[in-house]
Amino acid sequence: MAESEKGTLNTRKTPQWWENAVIYQIYPQAFCNGDIAGIISKLDYLANLGVDAVWLCPLYPSPGRDNGYDISDYDGIAPKFGTMDDFKRLVKEAHVRNIRVIIDLVLNHTSNQHPWFSEACADANSPKRGYYIWRGGQKNGAKPPNNWGALFGGSAWSKAGEQYYLGLFSPYQPDLNWANSALRRELYAMARRWLALGVDGFRLDVITLIAKPGDFPDGETGENGYYDPRGRIAANPLLFEYLREFRQALAGYDIVTVGEASAADLELADKLTDPSEPLLDMVFSFEHMDIDGGETFKWNDRAIALPALRRVMAKWQTGGAALGLFWNNHDQPRMLSRMLRGEAAPGLKERFAKTLACCLHLMRGVPFIYQGEEIGMENGRFGGVEELRDVEAINAFYEHTKSGRFTEAEMMRLINLKGRDTARTPVDWGFAEEQLQRDGSVFSFYRELIQLRHKYDVVVNGRYAPYDTGEGNIFAYTRETDEEQLFVCCNFSEEEIALPIPNGFAVPLISNNSGRYAQTGVLAGFECAALYAAKPSVA
Ligand code: GLC
Repeated sequence: MAESEKGTLNTRKTPQWWENAVIYQIYPQAFCNGDIAGIISKLDYLANLGVDAVWLCPLYPSPGRDNGYDISDYDGIAPKFGTMDDFKRLVKEAHVRNIRVIIDLVLNHTSNQHPWFSEACADANSPKRGYYIWRGGQKNGAKPPNNWGALFGGSAWSKAGEQYYLGLFSPYQPDLNWANSALRRELYAMARRWLALGVDGFRLDVITLIAKPGDFPDGETGENGYYDPRGRIAANPLLFEYLREFRQALAGYDIVTVGEASAADLELADKLTDPSEPLLDMVFSFEHMDIDGGETFKWNDRAIALPALRRVMAKWQTGGAALGLFWNNHDQPRMLSRMLRGEAAPGLKERFAKTLACCLHLMRGVPFIYQGEEIGMENGRFGGVEELRDVEAINAFYEHTKSGRFTEAEMMRLINLKGRDTARTPVDWGFAEEQLQRDGSVFSFYRELIQLRHKYDVVVNGRYAPYDTGEGNIFAYTRETDEEQLFVCCNFSEEEIALPIPNGFAVPLISNNSGRYAQTGVLAGFECAALYAAKPSVA
């Protein structure tokens, strides 16, 4: 991408519907009554919030080993969520309210209960055998083919009959073999069938991991004794070929694709979303989510330090890639709890929830709101391993308590800080109802932010520049187009901080403290503000 275009949104010629959109993520089992009828019943609520689209996490039939990310039928709806007719009604009712519908496509793996996998295991000569990745034979079958670890624990290789198959996440999620052209055609045809039902786009699960290197080399082992090969897989040039083919197979549909860019660096993300040939419309990067993680080991109690967060966000904001923006999703502890760690009075918590929202929503990219975030929901808490649902946390609990690395109490403490179940507790609709009635609620603040994005070109298209205040606890930046400028400042601490208003920013756009900063040049604890300036015309 040309240097001058960096830091601006995707510069295609024709505007796309999603360029100024805000998208709401629904995790169906924890949204409303755990079914599609519940989602339909909340469409008015979402229209009131003002979002342009919903992303629905998997609704497919699944044994539920990974809460629906282990699909056993790509063309169905799990009975617990409803029927295909319910799904069609959902699409129709959403469209009536001008809300588009994006579904999750999990193309890297299926469930081990998918009929393709059953057939592949039952008959080594079946054409479905080649849909999966097999290595090793009788002679060298005693050891897995290489030292790759599965993301949810143990080896990435499991034995079925005489050979090993690859399951990058778990043995219940065998990886598909994208080198097989018949498989690729099946997947594209399946995606087209969903488009024919009226869906408006896809969130592509772990899409940067589909192209495996054929030689499956060993890597350096990490803390768990296993090697995490994601970076190496993501860098495989075959990824471009497969995505190009996928895009061509969907040509003619006006859709959006959001790729979960696991292990992608900025350079790869930039190439994948290059406006001259966008293979993906935007990507989710995870570098900001990894700040409090470990290089190879997730279960630690490190916190997110603001300087690191500012640095990582600035790097992606000023890079070229088209971005989906998020603080939360179903795989991450909620950012509010993650940054506060419970240390704030309830009123201040609401204020901080708004500051987080302001900081993200005025950046470059398409903001995603994870269900419950718009009412300031915090992490759910779990008393013991028997309360957990997440395969990753359950496996980690047993692995690390058995090995003696952590006591049970220590492991539960870490799971309550970092585990995925923390964000998967049901949306509190009583709380939402209360917020709908109240001026100044977190909900109404999100609604204002969405309106700003719809109204101001600078929010959508402005170049991002970090604004150095010299204050460790402030996150500030500017956005700029030829006509407009925006200044955003957010206090991430409870302390009051004086911050001179930069020259020319006379119009307050949004505040979580009755516009106090715009009047005084002082940010109260957890206060945020955005100020606007129209540039004088040069005519
Ligand atoms: C993605 C999903 C996550 C799932 C994994 C494997 O990261 O968001 O929930 O466990 O892929 O499908």
